[in-house]
Amino acid sequence: MSQGHVFITRRIPDPGMKALAEAGVRATVFQKNEEKGLTREEVIAGARSCDVLIPLLTEPIDREVMSANDTLRGIAQMAVGFNNIDVEVATELGIPVANTPGVLTDTTADLTWALLMAVARHVPQAHNYMVADRYKLWGPNLFTGADLSPGGSEQRKVLGIIGYGRIGAAVAKRSVGFDMDVLAYDPFNKDGVTADPLAEWAEFDELLEQSDFVSLHPLLTPETHHLIGEAELRKMKPTAYIVNAARGPVIDEKALVRALRERWIAGAGLDVYEDEPAMAPGLAELDNAVLLPHIASASIDTRGKMAWMAATNAVAHLKGQRAPNAVNPEVYDTEAYRQRLARS
Ligand code: DGY
Repeated sequence: MSQGHVFITRRIPDPGMKALAEAGVRATVFQKNEEKGLTREEVIAGARSCDVLIPLLTEPIDREVMSANDTLRGIAQMAVGFNNIDVEVATELGIPVANTPGVLTDTTADLTWALLMAVARHVPQAHNYMVADRYKLWGPNLFTGADLSPGGSEQRKVLGIIGYGRIGAAVAKRSVGFDMDVLAYDPFNKDGVTADPLAEWAEFDELLEQSDFVSLHPLLTPETHHLIGEAELRKMKPTAYIVNAARGPVIDEKALVRALRERWIAGAGLDVYEDEPAMAPGLAELDNAVLLPHIASASIDTRGKMAWMAATNAVAHLKGQRAPNAVNPEVYDTEAYRQRLARS
């Protein structure tokens, strides 16, 4: 087996590049333009040229891409989410796929709270008002928003968390300082919810109806696609806010635009979009939406660690070893994997 060549679709932070260099790996970074990304043909050509592929969530990695190279030893995505990769096909073809779990939990939970606070207290609008030099006189009605803490109402607010994995639980942990009550729903992790004293299990509808803030943290799967649509938005309180720092297609974005425009709910904070980077028509014009460009894991330390983890997974793939963060570890016991390694 040769030492190998890693194809990195776009520039990753230095700790990842350093880890590859220290392992003596030849790495090609394709990226030409930070805002443009690769064409499909460029992704396929890159996959064909390498022994291990390091993609980002912006590149669909499907059968055509993976079939381009029958000696590809593995895929090491720099992200915790991997809905852009057809893992079932990867396993069938004998290709291990790895991600970067855990490291971005806190950073993503922090950003979720930034969104909750920003949308409830009109932070971006108030900032824009200042920089437009419109602040002439303090006023008792200026940018009045909603409390997360009991505030003047002295009523504890309800935070509803949908998807109670690592990130959902980290969001719940941060609610303690706001004296909130936490409801949580996760059909795949009911035990995780009931074991956590910070959260109380709620059925889906119950959570939607009772929450003052709904925060979404499920994986994107066929079951969670459009989990929140018109019917669900209509179940929420008109004073409630929804925040999504998971994956865009979990919300039917067109329905959300209507809900915000017609005030079925009070507001939304979004870090992700259904057809990213595009936004549903009308979303950008709304005064009750706070919109961010998918930056939930974007701290210097966390992105550096994610790049390092992707590089470490890539080196393991190259050596024909089990990657520390394989999402399809069953692949290692398949004939397809053994044959692939033998060919490479
Ligand atoms: C992920 O890792 O899945 C995030 O969406 C980007 O960091």
